Amino acid sequence: MEGMEGVVVAETRTSCVDGEAGELLIRGWPVAELAGRAPFEAVCALVLDGALDGPPVALGPARARAFERLEALGGALALEDPMDALRASIAQLDGGASAAEVIGAVAVFAAAWARRAAGAAPLAPDPRAGHAADYLRMARGREASHAEIAALDAYFAAVVDHGMNASTFAARVVASTQSDRVSAIVAAIGALKGRLHGGAPGPVLDMLDAVGEADAGGAAEAADAWVRAALARGERIMGMGHRVYRVRDPRAEVLERAAASLGGASGRLALARAVEAAADRALSQGKPGRALRANVEMYTAVLLDALGLARALFTPTFACARVAGWCAHYDEQRQGGRLIRPRARYVGPGATDRSAA
Ligand code: COA
Repeated sequence: MEGMEGVVVAETRTSCVDGEAGELLIRGWPVAELAGRAPFEAVCALVLDGALDGPPVALGPARARAFERLEALGGALALEDPMDALRASIAQLDGGASAAEVIGAVAVFAAAWARRAAGAAPLAPDPRAGHAADYLRMARGREASHAEIAALDAYFAAVVDHGMNASTFAARVVASTQSDRVSAIVAAIGALKGRLHGGAPGPVLDMLDAVGEADAGGAAEAADAWVRAALARGERIMGMGHRVYRVRDPRAEVLERAAASLGGASGRLALARAVEAAADRALSQGKPGRALRANVEMYTAVLLDALGLARALFTPTFACARVAGWCAHYDEQRQGGRLIRPRARYVGPGATDRSAA
């Protein structure tokens, strides 16, 4: 089927997505139990090595080494689009870099891009700090509170891995050719950038802003009008729908709770809930055959905004977490996977019933 829906391309121990039940297991942990339980370094150890309570992955020294490379990156971090900058800067790591090196570098390069974009010098990492705390400080230029660190750790755990999503698949395809880890991660970054995958939370926030501005008669009415007008123009509602889930994405619940734990998120949370309810109503009428419910990006936008991260940094922040999943899949594919090489049905000149490349 087009889009490879339902096709199994690999075996994995990393995560399991049950789209009918709305359940996500990360190395056996239900996402709601994992998020908030452990810092990102421990979650990386879980995803990469299978144990949450073993030695955490040493990301501090990796961040310090990544920072030493900033000077040598040339113009990569000056690129206007942060995902282009991330792709171009990660591409300059040694191909055989370890998982920790790559995970540390994504956070340092993303934060350095944000500082440059704000006209400020990049801030050096503190290798003794936790990854979430250090990322927030480096990206925003101010220390994070305990609540903010806990909220970002919950976000990182919630999105660290998610079955055979498009960017993970891209990484596995590259790994399956026996290419190097960094090449696989660069391919994954390119896939994550797209609006249908990791590029949705920025547009979600734009949508919430637009609904908020039109909110004179109440959020529910404004959300209803906005959603119906967007659907009438043939647009998709960002933050709604999923290839696998037929019910609400279980990560939406986790992130909604994390956002609610932060002061300052209540206005946007109310708007997001109103948009979700309006979209549920409109989509169940407009697409009765297809269950389109809220996905992870609806509340990612609210949470990352409440953490004071610029909206341009939402997709790079997603990459900060998902890179650990990409690395785990890279290792799995290299350990036992076969070359991934599907076929295409040829429909060009001279096509026959048996045409395939
Ligand atoms: N808003 C409106 N309509 C939507 C929709 C949305 N968010 N998501 C899917 N649809 C519609 C499609 O247009 C399609 O309609 P059609 O049959 O009339 O062409 C139908 O529902 C089936 O969609 P399909 O393209 O098969 O879904 P998919 O599995 O390929 O797409 C997504 C999954 C996530 C790409 C899709 O739901 C989407 O674009 N969502 C918005 C972007 C987003 O939030 N991305 C983050 C994902 S975590």
